[in-house]
Amino acid sequence: MLNYYDPKQTPAPQHFLPERDYGTPARLSETLVSLEIDGVAITVPEGTSVLRAAALADINIPKLCASDNLEAFGSCRLCAVQIEGRRGLPASCTTPVAAGMKVTTQNERLAKLRRNVMELYISDHPLDCLTCPANGDCELQDMAGAVGLREVRYGFDGENHLDAETDDSNPYFSFDPSKCIVCSRCVRACEEVQGTFALTIEGRGFESKVAAGQSEAFMDSECVSCGACVQACPTSTLMEKSVIEQGQPEHSVVTTCAYCGVGCSFKAEMQGDRVVRMVPYKGGDANHGHSCVKGRFAFGYATHPDRLKTPMIRESIDQPWREVGWEEAIAFAAQRLKAIQAKYGRESIGGITSSRCTNEETYLVQKLVRAAFRNNNTDTCARVCHSPTGYGLKTTLGESAGTQTFDSVMQADVIVVIGANPTDAHPVFASQMRRRLRQGAELIVVDPRRIDLLKTPHHRGAQHLALRPGTNVAMINALAHVVMSEGLEDREFIAKRCDAAGYQAWREFILDPRHAPENVEAITGVPAEQVRRAARTYAQAPNGAIYYGLGVTEHSQGSSMVMGIANLAMATGNIGREGVGVNPLRGQNNVQGSCDMGSFPHELPGYQHVGDPAVRERFEAAWGVPIDDEPGLRIPNMFDAAVAGEFKALYVQGEDIAQSDPNTQHVEQALRSLECLIVQDIFLNETAKFAHVLLPGSSFLEKDGTFTNAERRINRVRKVMPPLAGKQDWEVTVDLANALGYPMHYDHPSQIMDEIAGLTPSFTGVSYARLDALGSIQWPCNEAHPEGTPTMHIEDFPIGLGQFAITDYVASDELSNRRFPLLLTTGRILSQYNVGAQTRRTHNQAWHDEDVLELHPADAELRGVRDGDWVGITSRAGQTVLRARISDRMPPGVVYTTFHHPGSGANVITTDSSDWATNCPEYKVTAVQVEKVSQPSAWQQQFQTFDRLQLELLRGGNKDEAGQALSGARE
Ligand code: SF4
Ligand code: SF4
Ligand code: SF4
Ligand code: FES
Repeated sequence: MLNYYDPKQTPAPQHFLPERDYGTPARLSETLVSLEIDGVAITVPEGTSVLRAAALADINIPKLCASDNLEAFGSCRLCAVQIEGRRGLPASCTTPVAAGMKVTTQNERLAKLRRNVMELYISDHPLDCLTCPANGDCELQDMAGAVGLREVRYGFDGENHLDAETDDSNPYFSFDPSKCIVCSRCVRACEEVQGTFALTIEGRGFESKVAAGQSEAFMDSECVSCGACVQACPTSTLMEKSVIEQGQPEHSVVTTCAYCGVGCSFKAEMQGDRVVRMVPYKGGDANHGHSCVKGRFAFGYATHPDRLKTPMIRESIDQPWREVGWEEAIAFAAQRLKAIQAKYGRESIGGITSSRCTNEETYLVQKLVRAAFRNNNTDTCARVCHSPTGYGLKTTLGESAGTQTFDSVMQADVIVVIGANPTDAHPVFASQMRRRLRQGAELIVVDPRRIDLLKTPHHRGAQHLALRPGTNVAMINALAHVVMSEGLEDREFIAKRCDAAGYQAWREFILDPRHAPENVEAITGVPAEQVRRAARTYAQAPNGAIYYGLGVTEHSQGSSMVMGIANLAMATGNIGREGVGVNPLRGQNNVQGSCDMGSFPHELPGYQHVGDPAVRERFEAAWGVPIDDEPGLRIPNMFDAAVAGEFKALYVQGEDIAQSDPNTQHVEQALRSLECLIVQDIFLNETAKFAHVLLPGSSFLEKDGTFTNAERRINRVRKVMPPLAGKQDWEVTVDLANALGYPMHYDHPSQIMDEIAGLTPSFTGVSYARLDALGSIQWPCNEAHPEGTPTMHIEDFPIGLGQFAITDYVASDELSNRRFPLLLTTGRILSQYNVGAQTRRTHNQAWHDEDVLELHPADAELRGVRDGDWVGITSRAGQTVLRARISDRMPPGVVYTTFHHPGSGANVITTDSSDWATNCPEYKVTAVQVEKVSQPSAWQQQFQTFDRLQLELLRGGNKDEAGQALSGARE
């Protein structure tokens, strides 16, 4: 019996209550202090401010410069109180509580002082409240009311700042200094919350003012547009342009960001069905009220005119699209799929789930494939990013996920970052990491590039092991060799928690002198002494935590490297408590979830193998159909089979394989070989240009469901506006299943989650009601852990004992040779997101409107390349042309680019070389040659023609002309 969740009848959960500001941050001391405030007795942890203690006792002291996400500064004096036995009227925000203290917060003397303070502020502030965009949401206005200010005696005749010029350079917020009260909340937010230190208070006394960078425009400064200062500002000095343009929001809904794997919670602040702004939610367990430029500001794509709003069909890709109703499109798709299976067999079709869609939607797509297509040809984009994490962590630790919460980093003494660039790819977590680094944690970065984390302000002594791309496994073995040969291992942990035979075998393997840093130096290019020092630092730390990204997984030895990381963590006992662990930084918003939900061809939801009869039996009983016991095709196998003429139809939900997968020309050939390609997406993406059925998708703002972030945290996604095309994505999959003759029925995604919970041991305790009550849940959530599991492997591993794995280094085939002497590695930048389909349709374009090739000055000079020149990048897979940017972020011999713009063709050059265990492509190592050129590559020219044609066909353009040009473009 399904436990139907009715969002209308469920009372507002506690975390929806208005967010209260307690004035100063909480203190965690176990020592408690009792005091009296306005006659009310209260007991709080030692170190708590009087302001916070009062707020906790429901006594509101006026304040302006204080906020509970910032350390107190004590500049406005509005929070003054009287304390028995003390002289003067101290600021309550900077005064810590003391035992027996007696505090008065309201009397005539205090009232007069506060009125005087406010009067001074207001005398240099425009009196335009009625027309000010912050009217009704302005702390200055509120405080003027709270202190009873009725008149201002000073007038505007004297010196003032009312003519100060507004800085509108940032596309998302404006800075109007005429309204600034110099409370410095913005400066402190930039330092303490974001960690960028882009703002300062310049000058002194009356002359003091807020300045970005070296008194530059915001866009020219180091500002990364996170919005923390805007949120901190108690006036309308720093203000979202959307609020200035549209006015104050009327209501809000808490939901989850749909960009990266941090999974930040936001309040979507609305006017009717229109989002006015996205405000990071303080109650969000992953972000605690912080955000980055993408989640905070780049939501405009959801209502972009390019959104697909009507289903479309066509017989072949050289024909114009025909707009049809949902029923006709679904019937057309189902009829095609059935006919293809009848002609070519059950295995000739498959589906790809989306890591952008919700858990419920992903679950339904893999269920559709297994139960309605009746095969296991389902896969997901994790194939091309973190599939080695699944394999490597499951083999060693027994579970395919990170071991910690993000907050755990605040207990880490040494932070090791391998092949990840958190400030760009996981920005909100990077801010938390930086906070810990400023508190004194040590940092070790293992990466060919000098990533921004190494330049964390107010942190010194970071160790950078700048290894050659493709040599990760040699490096991790060398680090482990030092640990073992210098006796730095945690013998107690190993004896108690790890399999003895496996450990002995690994010990013998790793102690072999070939792994000694001195012998590995020639492979990695990193001096042995640096490796020894890093190994000692990590192994000797009370708490050492490892965070890694795609620079670990997207290699021919991605799975070996993940296992090597787990080996190192187990050998040093850095597993099973706060501050330690092995943490993959998952890229997309729901890539963890799409893996958990059974997207891979060999695993049903919860990583339960299709070959296990007991597992199949449970799913067969629930789904009412037999399930194939053989794993199906992975994405690269689907492409190969399509080119070979054996695989004929594909249903792709929310995934742009034509742009994101390696060896573009091979992918395009595969897509063109299909007799039926069904694409469900919010835009006509690159894959959709090869499609026969186009089903409009719904954005995260238009649906209910859940996402699971990189810390296994399941967060609710809540519908804030109706789906533009009339259906949420899960409803479309349900319709397709029914049209294929496999009955599916759900009234609400909560019912899908109930089904998941009934079939997935790590989800048995998850329900929408519990998610609403708790805010979020980290799986496993079951009888043993009804509120979830923040830290994994505390007592034991899911496989009992930890398994050390032998990780022999095997050089990548891509390592440079004379024909292709440089190594290309790829990555992301902060402002754009993956294939860019969303962020390219926002003002984030202002930061990155083209992909460029970064190359070292020495490599550029050798080739006569100057900054801004067009360069051809050629690999054994193909050629593309990008503009050159000379940069010393990479070592000589390594070049770097991003892949956010389809016409850049970054994946035309990446090859089909892949991880030995999982087929994850080796994006991070491609041998290339770079030379000056004067025109786009042949592929780019074809791309432009094809792109123009498909846009024309979308608009219903002429079939014959388009068809002729199309065949020309593709010959
Ligand atoms: S810009 Fe806002 S937060 Fe910054 S000092 Fe001025 S009033 Fe305070
Ligand atoms: S938007 Fe963020 S990075 Fe930019 S100044 Fe404000 S707090 Fe600093
Ligand atoms: S850090 Fe990631 S989840 Fe958070 S706001 Fe930015 S893109 Fe969204
Ligand atoms: S709020 Fe305490 S001095 Fe400003």
